[in-house]
Amino acid sequence: MDQKISPARKLEGVMRLPGDKSISHRYAMLGAIAEGRTRILNYSSGADCASTLACVEALGATVEREGNEVAVTGNGLDGLQPAPRMLDAGNSGSTIRMLSGILAAQPFLTRITGDESLSRRPMDRIMRPLEAMGASIAAREGRYPPLEIRPAKLHPIEYTLPVASAQVKSCVLLAGLFAEGVTRVQEPARTRDHTEVAMREFGATVEVAGRTISLSGRPRLKARDLVVPGDLSSAAFFLVAALLVPGSRIVIEGVGLNPTRSALLDFLLSMGARIRVRNLAFAAGEPVGDIEVQHAPVRGGVIEKDLTAALIDEIPALAVLGAASEEGLTVRDASELRVKETDRIATIAENLKRMGVEVEVAPDGLTVPGKQRFHAAVVDSFGDHRIAMAFSVAALAADGECTVRDAGAAAVSFPEFFRILQALAG
Ligand code: S3P
Repeated sequence: MDQKISPARKLEGVMRLPGDKSISHRYAMLGAIAEGRTRILNYSSGADCASTLACVEALGATVEREGNEVAVTGNGLDGLQPAPRMLDAGNSGSTIRMLSGILAAQPFLTRITGDESLSRRPMDRIMRPLEAMGASIAAREGRYPPLEIRPAKLHPIEYTLPVASAQVKSCVLLAGLFAEGVTRVQEPARTRDHTEVAMREFGATVEVAGRTISLSGRPRLKARDLVVPGDLSSAAFFLVAALLVPGSRIVIEGVGLNPTRSALLDFLLSMGARIRVRNLAFAAGEPVGDIEVQHAPVRGGVIEKDLTAALIDEIPALAVLGAASEEGLTVRDASELRVKETDRIATIAENLKRMGVEVEVAPDGLTVPGKQRFHAAVVDSFGDHRIAMAFSVAALAADGECTVRDAGAAAVSFPEFFRILQALAG
């Protein structure tokens, strides 16, 4: 699907967003190995989280779904059944990497694959720690999907993550649920901690000391009623849109503000953005609040070191904002961007250039000088949801109508994106 986008005069409105993608995956997976019926309200409407539901259903959990209300009924830690077919994680790295932690501990064999993009993403990062726990996994060329995960009994390990990755951390912790004893994971930089928070909600004992997470294995996980907060990474596109288009003011209610995700707000504030957070509350251990943003010129900045890991999903949107900022944006230490749904350093740079925006590419990052104008162009999602949305936002600030090729990719995390964008832009 091609999407045409006209320049916006201003964005205005109050809205709520579909549930956080990261949290939805975790609730569905934990619900599938808990005892009883877990009700999940505001479950992510994205295709990625539907892939997770289809996988846990194929593994014997009962899944009921009515719109964004989902119920997952599990039979406890030992309740999963062999899947009748190869599991399909679609485009979802979170599904294949996190679920593999559960699958590695089963007394049966499972095969799991994904779409073309996922089939090119590295899985050795989860295979190494799982193998150290006693798992047996075969992969195409030793590192790519499909994975064949053979029956095994796991033992706990102490593992230092070579890359800052919440998916790998979560994979090891999910595997650790099945291992007798304490599994420890140490991370090089703090990454989103939704797994740790959710495991506690389901009844597991998880302790955090500095950057080391300790999980006691073989807990009894109990079903829960849960509400997923709005997705801050989806909100990022509207925050950037409001900051780009003069006269804009929007309020996004009920957004997840977990401190391991909310570096985005701090970074925008450090650039001079006019953002206010109100009505802070907690839902199942996750902070939630309303965000108000008003247009303001922003300074620009540098994303590097630990901040890169904290903003990893927001870099496509921030790169767009950087071009319009006073001083521009530099991103460093971001080689992980090269192994996302697309090589995001390359796809961001290609689309910026198509819009007449100057950008300098490095092996592990990019620099976008400030004070630039977006020119009308045909840009491409390259099949990547966050690239589709970031450049739709850039198009709002362009000097003429733009076309976003393969814009339907947005549905991987946010099927409602274009409808909401249109409503905000009037
Ligand atoms: C996610 C972790 C991040 C992020 C992805 C979701 C998660 O990936 O990019 O969109 O839910 O744990 P990595 O762990 O590979 O950095």
